[in-house]
Amino acid sequence: MKYRKITALCLAVFLMLSSVMTGCGREGKSLAPLPETESDKPPAVSEAMSGEAAASLEETLAGTGQTLTLTEAMARTGDLILVNSRLPYDFDANADSVDIVNIRDTQSFFYQVSKRELSVASRIMPSLDAMIASCHEAMGNEEAGIESAYRSLDYQINVMSEITELYGEDYAAKYVAQPGYSEHHTGLSVDIGRFFPDGSEGSFSESESAVWMNDNSWRYGFVRRYAEDKTAVTGISNEAWHFRYVGVPHAAYMKANNLALEEYLELLRSETDRSHPLSITAEDGTYAVYMTTETTIPEPAGDYRISGSNSGEWIVTVRL
Ligand code: DAL
Ligand code: ZN
Repeated sequence: MKYRKITALCLAVFLMLSSVMTGCGREGKSLAPLPETESDKPPAVSEAMSGEAAASLEETLAGTGQTLTLTEAMARTGDLILVNSRLPYDFDANADSVDIVNIRDTQSFFYQVSKRELSVASRIMPSLDAMIASCHEAMGNEEAGIESAYRSLDYQINVMSEITELYGEDYAAKYVAQPGYSEHHTGLSVDIGRFFPDGSEGSFSESESAVWMNDNSWRYGFVRRYAEDKTAVTGISNEAWHFRYVGVPHAAYMKANNLALEEYLELLRSETDRSHPLSITAEDGTYAVYMTTETTIPEPAGDYRISGSNSGEWIVTVRL
């Protein structure tokens, strides 16, 4: 019986992953083809699991014997919440769970931060520090720093009116989210800037650091959120500077498969559930990820995280 269950799970995982990899999912989702050359090898892959790994996955997801209750508030908080022109940020639901800290007071080494008050969610500081440190090391300079970060509702209202005044309404609509609908409210997004030793600032978009960040931010759990080829999906024009923390396995998968956050959540929605998780192998380990609308789930064994989607679902990420 146990063997049949494991075989069925293997097959289900294999079929689901095959459909994900070939772009022939239940809803005919078409994913970008995987690169073929060795140098373009994707940083994260989904693979059919060995029998042993599938058995371990089954045990991990069946969990501790305890159950978890997933609340409405949890559906609106966490590393994977989508905030865009259709989905506002829920300030009330996040008030207790997001600990906003000042970057200059918290950074583990010096890098430029454009304004004294810039802050982010405390849980992303180690990843932000590590990403900037690696960028400085790779570039051989210390130009990459933080231009913008957490924004309150009032702050975004000011950004919108300043940009509208300076560049006009059309430009503002392309590059600035409506107040209440900005990812900067989450404390999980930063705009990277280019700073010279004399204190002056340059164009980050045109710098080598922008190329490095685009290629490497996933290693630290950040995604370049507004890419040129995703403007129809995100509703925002190309921003080489805006990076959003989502967590390492998710960033690795999105980067490898060229998915915007909107597309990644849609993939989890249409292709996964508790019995059919997505397997992601990232540099720091293997993860099982699924989206659910169940309000009670078995508590996974070991290391797990739960995030809302901001659309009424929860995403469960379990480290195997
Ligand atoms: N620049 C991004 C879209 C924002 O205003 O949130
Ligand atoms: Zn931004």
